[in-house]
Amino acid sequence: MTEAVAEVLFPKEVIARRVRELAGQISRDYEGREPLIVGILNGAFIFMADLIRALDVPCRVDFVRLASYGSESVSSGAIRIGKDLETPIAGRDVLIVEDIVDTGLTLSRLVEVLRERQPASLRVCVFLDKPERRRIPFTADYVGFVIPDRFVVGYGLDFDEKYRFLPDVYVLGRSS
Ligand code: XMP
Ligand code: MG
Repeated sequence: MTEAVAEVLFPKEVIARRVRELAGQISRDYEGREPLIVGILNGAFIFMADLIRALDVPCRVDFVRLASYGSESVSSGAIRIGKDLETPIAGRDVLIVEDIVDTGLTLSRLVEVLRERQPASLRVCVFLDKPERRRIPFTADYVGFVIPDRFVVGYGLDFDEKYRFLPDVYVLGRSS
């Protein structure tokens, strides 16, 4: 059995509309400021690129890469920073951008690490939220879509590094 992209969950037009709404909300909240947008590689890069181009406030960008000690799709809980920020964040307004919050382990760990560097503010924006899968409490400040416990790909999200380039979001199914 191999996996296959089965059904479209969010077509690109629906994604684009929701990203514009999120950007509007973020722009209002950060009016008069210049947040540092921190993308989590690789999954967040497409969402982040669309999001920041829809903002009405100026921003700067930086990236982190995280690595879990377990496999990619099943978080082990032990998370380390593979590639750190290149920007000092003390006193800055920081907005973390991630593709999806699942168990909550990755983002709560990253928030903990970045909070120690004393940013002026620290918020999280996720494209997708799978609340049924939480292993520790975690609430993102901005959420694109809440989804059921299904594995999804496309719009930056991968299975085994495949499908990130797809413009729509698909539920991953199985072919015979
Ligand atoms: P946590 O720590 O919240 O980690 O469990 C979230 C990370 O898990 C991956 N993930 C997915 N990736 N489709 C994906 O392509 C999914 O449905 C999915 N669910 C979780 C993803 O790497 C995310 O950063
Ligand atoms: Mg990821």
